[in-house]
Amino acid sequence: MPSTQFQVRYPDSPLGAEISGLDLSKDVDAATFREIEKVFHERSVIWFRDQKLTPEQHVKFSRHFGDVEVPTNRQYSLASCPEVYVVSNIVENGRNIGNADAGRVWHTDSSYMQVPSRGSLLYAIEVPQDDQGGPLGDTCFASMTAAYDDLPDDVKKRAEGLRGVHNYTQQYERRLAKIKAQGGVREELTTDLKAKVPDVVHPVIRTHPVTGRKCVYVSVSFVIKVLGIDEEEGLKLRDYLIEHSTQPRYVYRHQWRAGDLLMWDNCATQHLAINDYALPQRRLMYRTTVKGTAV
Ligand code: OGA
Ligand code: MN
Repeated sequence: MPSTQFQVRYPDSPLGAEISGLDLSKDVDAATFREIEKVFHERSVIWFRDQKLTPEQHVKFSRHFGDVEVPTNRQYSLASCPEVYVVSNIVENGRNIGNADAGRVWHTDSSYMQVPSRGSLLYAIEVPQDDQGGPLGDTCFASMTAAYDDLPDDVKKRAEGLRGVHNYTQQYERRLAKIKAQGGVREELTTDLKAKVPDVVHPVIRTHPVTGRKCVYVSVSFVIKVLGIDEEEGLKLRDYLIEHSTQPRYVYRHQWRAGDLLMWDNCATQHLAINDYALPQRRLMYRTTVKGTAV
């Protein structure tokens, strides 16, 4: 008999599930984990409310899903726990303590790696609020499987077999230029780091490694070219696929509460951070990413 004791609630969206009744600071047994993983594969985004996790407990729970990555760029990793990446608008001693503008364009994490991440686990520590105490800084998730299923047959046919070039440095440098223009500070990309992230090629339509479902796998953030067709046509196809896939009917919008641990599937979804807050409204999130399998 599995010892699973959690409840699941579904939002009115093609993805997402809230799991309650679990304290993730404690060990999760294998049977319970299998049930959690099943919900994760069915719904692509899962979250647990009211958690109280140390960085080490966050990493430990993440490890159930696979190896936990140390970010390519470590400038925003926790010194005491480099697997934990800080997403935050908080400034201390004139420096951002975390990445202040993570995810402002639809994307999926580390698609620019040869072996992209399986999933990311974002833990909310401080959530910005409006004057009425309502949450700001939501994150939107779009289902790349539901979006794929609804594509017109001729587009499916055209996209099948095409491959996209994913590039890390161009979007980094675009953001760097923007930050500098606003008087902010961010590290330059070192030659060392650039060498770690050469362009990689992934299918435009990716098959999910576990569920076998087809997923749209291109983003404006990282895909700079589609191979095998005319360059302009390729970018048009990329933009069409993204516009189609991020329509409200494929989206779940998460309103954060401090204590949420939320995990998304980096193959089956894309995500977008809503930029509707500013200091003194503070946002502090910790993220881990779990290594995936070769595409
Ligand atoms: C990320 C990301 C979105 C957010 O951490 O990968 O895109 O809402 N974050 O913080
Ligand atoms: Mn992201």
